[in-house]
Amino acid sequence: TVNDHFLQCMSIHSTPHAKSAQIIHQPNSSLYSYFLQSSQQNPRWLNASTSKPLLILTPFHESEIQAAILCSRKQGLQIRTRSGGHDYEGLSYLSEAPFIIVDLIYLGTVSVDIEDETAWVQAGATLGELYYSISMKSHIHGFPAGICPTVGVGGHFSGGGFGTLLRKYGLAADNILDAYLIDVNGRILNRESMGESLFWAIRGGGGASFGILVSWKIKLVRVPPTVTVFTIHKTLEQGATKLVHRWQYVADQLHEDIFIRIIIQDVGGQSSGKKMTIQASFNSLFLGGVDKLIPLMGKSFPELGLQAGDCTEMTWIESVLYFAGFPRGNSLDVLLNRTHPDRSYFKAKSDYVKEPIPEVGLEGVWERFLKEQIVFMIMDPYGGRMNKISESELPFPHRKGNLYNIQYLVKWEVNEAKISNKHVHWIRMLFQYMRPFVSKSPRAAYLNYRDLDLGINNQDNASYSQAWVWGTKYFKGNFFRLAWVKAKVDPDNFFRNEQSIPPLPHME
Ligand code: FDA
Repeated sequence: TVNDHFLQCMSIHSTPHAKSAQIIHQPNSSLYSYFLQSSQQNPRWLNASTSKPLLILTPFHESEIQAAILCSRKQGLQIRTRSGGHDYEGLSYLSEAPFIIVDLIYLGTVSVDIEDETAWVQAGATLGELYYSISMKSHIHGFPAGICPTVGVGGHFSGGGFGTLLRKYGLAADNILDAYLIDVNGRILNRESMGESLFWAIRGGGGASFGILVSWKIKLVRVPPTVTVFTIHKTLEQGATKLVHRWQYVADQLHEDIFIRIIIQDVGGQSSGKKMTIQASFNSLFLGGVDKLIPLMGKSFPELGLQAGDCTEMTWIESVLYFAGFPRGNSLDVLLNRTHPDRSYFKAKSDYVKEPIPEVGLEGVWERFLKEQIVFMIMDPYGGRMNKISESELPFPHRKGNLYNIQYLVKWEVNEAKISNKHVHWIRMLFQYMRPFVSKSPRAAYLNYRDLDLGINNQDNASYSQAWVWGTKYFKGNFFRLAWVKAKVDPDNFFRNEQSIPPLPHME
């Protein structure tokens, strides 16, 4: 069988570190279903009809990854690489074609060098593990990446990565100094040996198109010993519409030490005995003490009416727990938990906003929200550092001119096709409604909020011109350079998935 051939190939090509029983999990082995399920953050595809990997590899050492690439190519298998498993469309563990999963769960070491203000982070580490490790060495250092601690750095950094420090320090990808990647020929490359074009591509272009990332070297950033957080909730009855409307004019202009995002959701309803309404939560991190924040807010966003009593001072690492939804005083150990406590079926989409949406436009969103159940719209402000980095500096192009990013999210609790379809239809309708209010030509989207509705590759013969449709939404003008790099490093398109970068053909 293919598995036997693959195992034989692995035993010839891996170094003696490889104890195949520990790293290769076949469908009949006890850990196979554990590894298949454990890091799927969107369990929508956990049903019998989806095709399963022929085996799952959990390497301890680079040489096992090198062998896996070589042996998969020999056997005509595809590879899905998984770090944290948070891909919105499951691309790190699903494939129509025969495939194996390379799961980097055991390659998650974080080595922090505080003197040098850098760290080496293996791709299988989570953001929580990274933040935890930094905080064990210093409480005046942090890293500007995503908010959810269970996200893996392999997918996250290679797609951009942003969170509460975005306005001050940019993306996670903006703060990467070096990386180790194993390419289609099984070579282990670092920044110097891969060259600047490939190093550019893996910082925002998505790692999956270019090889298997093993580790990143990152630049730590400075955070003050005391930061301030607040969350102010306003319902429609409390003037949410006017405040959200006003926020659009100030959020990207605020001092770069202030980050205020908005989370919109519907609240109330039968189970609570309260009238259904929309709630906007202004959820904020300020890099400094409350005494500085209050006058700043009084000047720039007085409409919110922020008072010292709404604010809590804490350390930066405590703010990480706060944004992840843990209560004050919770042990930092929760950051080491790899499984998101609140897994549910979901579909998400994203947009970029360049002009404030008029109040009537927002009211149309509320109307649609009140017809669904578990829905969110998260508005993340840009500006600050993001305005100072050019669109082509990295593949991630959403810089100056973008006021904020929107993520729309619908969740549901019963995984039946009919029910899923209904919710997916709802979010598609919302997306259609939003068209006049958001970026155009292209209608831009964020790669890490992956959305296969934007377009997919033909798996047998991926074409650049077909992929251009979704590629320019994620990457704008950088899509061409990504396809050019792909043609250089993986011309036969071994590393591919539904939304991987196709190689640029000679003629184009
Ligand atoms: P996963 O392992 O699923 O990989 C994602 C993609 O990258 C796949 O195509 C995979 O093959 C590829 N890949 C993974 N590891 C690789 C490697 N080592 N080498 C090559 N390719 C590799 N984003 C954000 O910017 N800010 C945020 O705050 C959040 N918050 C958030 C919360 C929750 C609950 C979810 C589910 C997601 C987010 N995200 C986010 C989105 C997140 O950044 C995105 O899903 C990342 O791609 C996840 O990376 P993982 O490694 O966890 O995913």
